[in-house]
Amino acid sequence: MKEYLYGIYGIWIYLPLSGVSRKWRRFSKRLRGRKESHLQQINLPCISWKQCTNNRMARIWEHDQANGNIRISELSFLNMIAQEVDDGTNIFEIGTFDGRTSINLAFSSPDACNIFTLDLKPEMDTEYALEKGERHMVEKKSSGARIDKYRKTDKSIVKKIDRLFGDSAKFDFSSYYDSCSLVFVDGSHAYEYLLSDTEEAMKMVKTGGVIVWHDYGIWEGVTKGLEEIENKYKMGLVNISNTSLVYWRKKQPEPKDRTDSV
Ligand SMILES: C[S@@+](CC[C@H](N)C(=O)[O-])C[C@H]1O[C@@H](n2cnc3c(N)ncnc32)[C@H](O)[C@@H]1O
Repeated sequence: MKEYLYGIYGIWIYLPLSGVSRKWRRFSKRLRGRKESHLQQINLPCISWKQCTNNRMARIWEHDQANGNIRISELSFLNMIAQEVDDGTNIFEIGTFDGRTSINLAFSSPDACNIFTLDLKPEMDTEYALEKGERHMVEKKSSGARIDKYRKTDKSIVKKIDRLFGDSAKFDFSSYYDSCSLVFVDGSHAYEYLLSDTEEAMKMVKTGGVIVWHDYGIWEGVTKGLEEIENKYKMGLVNISNTSLVYWRKKQPEPKDRTDSV
């Protein structure tokens, strides 16, 4: 029951209120002639979450948000997308942290889906420099601690999750290519990682599948990287209004023009 209530709160209360609060912060800073230090200028088009899913309700597990987790509104959206993926397909998450998103994806997705979640261990060497402010998310006590909490009570859910370790810029993603109905990119926020994680996400997502990125408009490397990609490839990346999520669905390729064979 409480999972439903937090789901309703996340998408129908928290999300619209965070839009109002953002507008208010911008307005009051302008009134006081202050610069908006942490509110970045964003240029991707915004759409409502309702344009991306037919679901109108999600359930939320592990509702309390730690420093490093996505917001409850963003988690509601992600869970709604997970609810409608094809059964038996893969979901890939880059960036496990405490496992809050992983366990939610496992509860929300159809029974035969597999959730793969990749995390960096603190002692691992990285290909590129991480951002200073994200070191605490790497140096946590244990990766995926929230998944472990369900080991006894919800064995079948925990069994859906495969925990992987490595640096996303060096990890071999090839066995997941063209198999994922959902890829969630929430690893390092450094520009180089955004680019390399996105390149792999594009290869992993199958036709009809979705990629969701977190922290657009919050971490400079993410914002810059996603806007550059959109300017270059015109893929149709969109920001989900009142969130820091960017959304993209891989469409069927357009049928070839066959007039020449008529
Ligand atoms: C923002 S947290 C993820 C939060 C999580 N999605 C949630 O809300 O529950 C980022 C995670 O990415 C991991 N990470 C950072 N750099 C990485 C890298 N190069 N390769 C793999 N994982 C990385 C960090 O260890 C951390 O666990």
